[in-house]
Amino acid sequence: MSISKDFLWGGAVAANQCEGAYQEDGKGLSIADLRLAGSKDKKRGFTPEIDETLYYPSHKAIDFYHHYKEDIALFAEMGFKMFRLSINWSRIFPNGDETEPNEEGLKFYDDVFDECLKYNIQPMVTISHYESPYGLMKKCNSWESREMIDYFMNYCQVIFERYHTKVKYWLTFNEINLALHSTYSALGMILEKNEDYEKKLFQALHHAFVAGAKAVALAHSIDPNLKVGNMLAAASVYAGTCDPQDNLLVQKMKDQFFFYFNDVMVKGEYTPKCKAILQDKGITLDITKEDEEALRKGTIDFISFSYYQSVTITTHPDDQSEQSVGNIAGGMKNPYLAESKWGWNIDPVGLRILLNEIYTTYRIPLFIVENGYGDVDYIEDGQIHDTDRIDYLRRHIKELKKAIEKDGVDLLGYTTWGCIDLVSAGTGEMSKRYGFIYVDVDDEGKGTFKRMKKDSFNWYKKVIASNGEDLD
Ligand code: BG6
Repeated sequence: MSISKDFLWGGAVAANQCEGAYQEDGKGLSIADLRLAGSKDKKRGFTPEIDETLYYPSHKAIDFYHHYKEDIALFAEMGFKMFRLSINWSRIFPNGDETEPNEEGLKFYDDVFDECLKYNIQPMVTISHYESPYGLMKKCNSWESREMIDYFMNYCQVIFERYHTKVKYWLTFNEINLALHSTYSALGMILEKNEDYEKKLFQALHHAFVAGAKAVALAHSIDPNLKVGNMLAAASVYAGTCDPQDNLLVQKMKDQFFFYFNDVMVKGEYTPKCKAILQDKGITLDITKEDEEALRKGTIDFISFSYYQSVTITTHPDDQSEQSVGNIAGGMKNPYLAESKWGWNIDPVGLRILLNEIYTTYRIPLFIVENGYGDVDYIEDGQIHDTDRIDYLRRHIKELKKAIEKDGVDLLGYTTWGCIDLVSAGTGEMSKRYGFIYVDVDDEGKGTFKRMKKDSFNWYKKVIASNGEDLD
């Protein structure tokens, strides 16, 4: 099998990390608008109200809200077939619980989608990307409450009806499995770390699973051409030693972190594996008959995921002295892999392994909706030579090609993360850049906001034009 001529090459962003204009045209506050900046060594905090003396990176971000025409024209110049973006829920329902949507918010996305379609770029929409309305967190602690299902469905009904002729590919929740590490972004909820923590967390995830399944069924009923996928943070996981206990640990981690989520969403039920995980934790979920039916009827059309790195874990504490960091689970340093400046290891072969593992397990199409290299960029004589980024992407594309061509994986497309520089979700920094396009704004939101092509811009253009043949 070779890469199909319909393979969807492109790039991805999230509203809260690029739009800015956080109060324009009727937009309400999202949970992202209360997050402060951090760094590699300093966690991002948040404030319960906006404090005008503090800096919130999402408020201006890269001002995509006012630059989208220029930015999409640049994506078109690179030959994008797909542009993944999220709808900022609080532009459509400012507080989250209104019955009528905000027309100005809807109009903005009409304009963005029309601009994409003008260049034959298909938009792919993430319905919820770490930016649920803050009003719902205040009202019911978001997904902790079952009420959230109705607010979400109201939002989905509006956006599916409005955009189904413009947007075919939809993703429900960005990296919902990262809720196991932070409930704030993934579930818009704050939970005290007491004895009920896990029970509440898994119940909240259940509410999101039901909502996601209902959204899939709704999308199909509004327009049978729509394709709805999930979106998980994914990584290959390795055993630090050949001790069988280490391999068991790997299996357990993958089950809990990845397969638990995919099983429910692909198979439409809590499989024996899921039930065993809950039983092991002593958790009994509140699942109604209606929930079960919704899960059964709303299985996803494809699996999408982000891939940045792999994780290595061991049961031997002595071997854990050198820790690795990353967007997933840390683990120990892998001596075979280099790391980025932010300590994320670089493991292209891990991507091939992962693609095989997921496809063999579920046999439905896959989509890599995030992959990329966060780095500091330097302007030299008016140019940016981002050779490490090109190298990272080239090596990952080589491996995904092998997964398709040699291993028979059904992969629909590849959208690189942060195709234009944007605010880092993990650290709130601008200096952790992923883009093919540089944006002149710094870690304090200062700059001209001018766009500039990096070397990777022309490189990716060539990759797309040759359908992945020319990677030099
Ligand atoms: C994923 C998120 O976790 O990784 C994105 O879906 C995020 O929102 C991306 O930006 C890269 O992480 P970071 O922390 O470098 O921005």
